[in-house]
Amino acid sequence: MYLSSLVIKNYRSYERLSVKFDDGINILQGENAAGKTNVLEAIGFLSFGKSFRTQKDVDCIKQGEDTAYIKGTIGKKQGELSVESVFMRDGKKSLKVNGEPARRMGELFGNFIAVVFSPEDLKVLKESPSLRRRFIDMEISKLKPTYFFELQEYNKALAQKNALLKSRMSIDEIRKLADVYNEQLATHGEKIIAARKAFLKRLDKQSAKVHEHLSGGEKLSLKYRSSVSADDVKTALYEKLTSALNSEIEQGFCLHGPHREDIAVSIDGDEIKAYSSQGQIRTAMLSLKLATLGIAKADFDELPVLLLDDVFSELDHARQRALLEYADGVQCFITTAVPIKSKIGSIYTVGGGNVKKES
Ligand SMILES: Nc1ncnc2c1ncn2[C@@H]1O[C@H](COP(=O)(O)OP(=O)(O)OP(=O)(O)O)[C@@H](O)[C@H]1O
Ligand SMILES: [Mg+2]
Repeated sequence: MYLSSLVIKNYRSYERLSVKFDDGINILQGENAAGKTNVLEAIGFLSFGKSFRTQKDVDCIKQGEDTAYIKGTIGKKQGELSVESVFMRDGKKSLKVNGEPARRMGELFGNFIAVVFSPEDLKVLKESPSLRRRFIDMEISKLKPTYFFELQEYNKALAQKNALLKSRMSIDEIRKLADVYNEQLATHGEKIIAARKAFLKRLDKQSAKVHEHLSGGEKLSLKYRSSVSADDVKTALYEKLTSALNSEIEQGFCLHGPHREDIAVSIDGDEIKAYSSQGQIRTAMLSLKLATLGIAKADFDELPVLLLDDVFSELDHARQRALLEYADGVQCFITTAVPIKSKIGSIYTVGGGNVKKES
């Protein structure tokens, strides 16, 4: 699939913008603060229903304005599709696919699939497990909207249980009520863990191939670290939660389950740590992102759009070339403050509140 045109109004630094894009490589070039990432962010908004930079939609509304608007026209095998979003300073937001409201995020996913890679993503491999969980949760949700609903149910039960653990009720009362939540957490938790393991198996296979290509031979591998190891995940999780209740009451939050699990990422057998080289971390993360393209292609028979924010010019030439070879046939948006030397794709100059294609 590819984004053929983008219209935005009162989004970030843009008052009005209307651009047509190529189905191949689009390079957005301009000085710092010119508005390059803003364009990528708006494109991502149409895919994820939110910004990849902020949790707060209002940050994206142009200062002094009340309503932001984004519309994308997407070319797909079955024909053209439009995705629109309007959101306001008071928190109201609407998302539409072909003019029809998508009432839940799950209804938006899958229509326009974008994979974004920005410098922020390097944190996924360097920092806390929650970022790794968010990464796979997002990726699985894009492929499988029911997963997103499952997560929401799990998180609802988790929030209720945590409130209970912090409450001033008697231990007996807490025990009785916690059992109801533990049952729910085990039921949804089992499904979440199964989906994550299945997805990681695919991601592991695919990303190892990409990484070997990009790095010239390094072996990347992924492993899911679950809080339970038994085959019957639901029973094992339920039992673990039941026996942990005293410590949970003491600490005031739920100690086991998918919300505490992690993914181990290793290169040539060594787990990636904060002190691995920047280049290694960047390449590994890029491999994971590119691998999701192949997975989406297998599931939707369409290649997602790739958004590379400030990453391309940081790669050495061999890796740039390997990336472009791998992404052959994928519509790419590449932002860069330094002009790219090799003659590839269409160049767009970003600045002065506008995006202009160079002829
Ligand atoms: N809500 C907003 N309203 C108005 N302007 C905004 C808003 N949010 C961000 N901006 C402006 O957008 C500009 C930054 O745009 P953007 O992040 O796209 O730059 P960039 O071209 O990606 O720069 P860099 O090369 O440094 O990454 C800043 O000047 C900032 O003030
Ligand atoms: Mg930027």
